[in-house]
Amino acid sequence: MKTLKVAVIGTGFIGKQHIEAIRRIPGTEIVAVIDNNEKMARSVAEQFFISRYYKDYKELLANTDVDVIHNCTPSAMHYPISKEVIKSGKHVYCEKPLTLNSTESEELVKLAKEYKVAAGANFNYRQNAMVQEMNQRVMNGSIGRLLTVYGEYMQDWMLFDTDYDWRLDPKLGGESRAIADIGSHCFDTIQFICGKRITSVYANLTTVHTVRKKMEKTDGTFSAATGKVLEEIPIRSEDMAYIMVKFEDGMQGLFHVSQVAAGKKNAFKINVCGAASSLEWNQERPDKLWIGHRDSGNEELYVGAQYMTGEAKKYATLPNGHPVGWADALRNGIHNFYDSIQNNNYINQNQNYVTFEDANYIMKIVEACLRSNQSQKWEDVLQ
Ligand SMILES: NC(=O)c1ccc[n+]([C@@H]2O[C@H](COP(=O)([O-])OP(=O)(O)OC[C@H]3O[C@@H](n4cnc5c(N)ncnc54)[C@H](O)[C@@H]3O)[C@@H](O)[C@H]2O)c1
Repeated sequence: MKTLKVAVIGTGFIGKQHIEAIRRIPGTEIVAVIDNNEKMARSVAEQFFISRYYKDYKELLANTDVDVIHNCTPSAMHYPISKEVIKSGKHVYCEKPLTLNSTESEELVKLAKEYKVAAGANFNYRQNAMVQEMNQRVMNGSIGRLLTVYGEYMQDWMLFDTDYDWRLDPKLGGESRAIADIGSHCFDTIQFICGKRITSVYANLTTVHTVRKKMEKTDGTFSAATGKVLEEIPIRSEDMAYIMVKFEDGMQGLFHVSQVAAGKKNAFKINVCGAASSLEWNQERPDKLWIGHRDSGNEELYVGAQYMTGEAKKYATLPNGHPVGWADALRNGIHNFYDSIQNNNYINQNQNYVTFEDANYIMKIVEACLRSNQSQKWEDVLQ
């Protein structure tokens, strides 16, 4: 095993979280950060004591001393940058959604296989200890035959018509916004918990603000804008959506996603009802799992390896009573990705992190939602 040299492209909100997560993984060294905003690249390099920074990622690709690249840029840059990273023979860990459409994501899957590099996507919620526990309990049959699933992912950072972010520009964020941005997390998490795929959807999308005001000053993801109104911008992408889903075995489920729900910050909740009992997890209380029964008292399980099941025990990384949460889940996925590189088994399709292949399928679900909103009918996820 050797120390893997790492670079992070895109040093905004999530790029900095990747830097912190990578620093917690043995056998890694962050050698460079890249941001096309050079001031940002320099300041993050200084803040995290990283020796090199670049404005243009192409300069980095020429360097042979980098093994792994994290692509934390806005969604439109995921395809072109990941493509070049793969072609340079380096491993890539890319943010979600994998690309702007499935033509691009399909190509990345093929390229990663051709160039034999590890290719992971950051759908981080399945890496939470209690989501792992849900998966174990569904798979070992202890909650009984699955009857239905329900999920909601609500935020409020797009509530006002003065809220503006690159995600609102289809050229940077894609045709879908709330679904591609947060609905995609719902799809990945539920498919992981249930061990089966969503195969058709019926989606109803709503754009609350069809015109938004771009303000003079914004501090990036999740922050409110201030100053004068610079421009009024017509908006096509959805602020919220209801999505009914059918799985490959006919089971149904429902999801509600919204970025205009006052008071809701990162309120992702997922519920799985079985014939014997139900499970519910709330990402804002990540170390707890609600277990519902019909004929006995309901339970709340606190994270702790000794009370958990099978592989999920490994995700309770702290002693009982020490909460694990969002940052730990991010680290877990990235850690699993690095393990597959160190153990040279990243070619296997079944990984304990989200592969480009998995993320490509999520793109296809997002596209089926857009088609369904147009047709107002059930639409199959195109395989
Ligand atoms: N997994 C998660 O939970 C999660 C959470 C937030 C964001 N994300 C994803 O991460 C990505 C980035 O989101 P964010 O919220 O960090 O955005 P952000 O705007 O905070 O940061 C993006 C950074 O990328 C830089 N950038 C833009 N184009 C670039 C280029 N060509 N080369 C180098 N740098 C470039 C920008 O200057 C900025 O600093 C998005 O795709 C988003 O969907 C994932």
